[in-house]
Amino acid sequence: MSGLPFTSIDSLEPYQIIDAFTVCFKHILESDDLQCFIQKVKGDLYNRDYLAAFDDENKRFAYASRWTPARALAYASLFSSLKDIVSLLKEPEQSKNVLLVGGGAGAELCGLGAVFSRLKEYNPSSNSNLNINIVDIADWGTVVNKLTTYMKNTWVYNQSSLNAEFLKDDILSCNTDVSKFDLITLLFTTSELFAEKRKETVRFLQSLCQNCKKHSLLLIAESAGSFSHITIGERKFPVQFLIDTILIGKPGEDNGAWEIKI
Ligand SMILES: C[S@@+](CC[C@H](N)C(=O)[O-])C[C@H]1O[C@@H](n2cnc3c(N)ncnc32)[C@H](O)[C@@H]1O
Repeated sequence: MSGLPFTSIDSLEPYQIIDAFTVCFKHILESDDLQCFIQKVKGDLYNRDYLAAFDDENKRFAYASRWTPARALAYASLFSSLKDIVSLLKEPEQSKNVLLVGGGAGAELCGLGAVFSRLKEYNPSSNSNLNINIVDIADWGTVVNKLTTYMKNTWVYNQSSLNAEFLKDDILSCNTDVSKFDLITLLFTTSELFAEKRKETVRFLQSLCQNCKKHSLLLIAESAGSFSHITIGERKFPVQFLIDTILIGKPGEDNGAWEIKI
């Protein structure tokens, strides 16, 4: 997809999203040690040691205050540009359930919250609820709770309409029941899963084909260059080829469980 608009009538204003981080992470943004924590995270990310990058609360706060705000703006822009997601969040009467895999740092949470909250402003007395479940292998519980409390207090009229629950677990082994979700996101997480455990990642994607409910949405975003290659027989394929084959089917046959919609 080429350039997404920075602002949208279907999302809160960028300054409202940034305010959430300024308020929630005031203590770390004002800390003399912030640069030191940022450098530690940078070093671990440079070495692709993702588990080490997020293994302590100060590093997680540093990441959430340094990197998450820009990503939250990008995701608000992305979600509000996808008409199936806007239709899902706009629906006035039902509860919608969303799973954010690897979303513990809060970017998808705030991006989605910003779109839901804006759409709710257009229809404030509607009964719709958004229930967000986040599964992440790193312990982002405090970050998620802080941002969720802010969004509930500041962005929606009725606090019970926007909910988020965090589970610290490995998505590849925790047997999450995916059948209840209307939307599942894997944003910049799939290549990490492949790097960690290739076979289990294939199995997880296959379980999304077998167990997700009809008409549910699956959003995967990744920088193309971050995927490695996989050897099948004598040939080497980019991992995104494998993902497409599992989800959509063999090229030209389109006989998989998922259909591409843009
Ligand atoms: C590169 S970060 C992307 C964060 C976020 N989705 C974004 O785009 O801003 C990848 C995330 O996936 C999480 N993660 C990695 N392996 C995981 C696993 N096996 N199960 C659940 N989460 C995992 C990491 O802890 C990290 O939060």
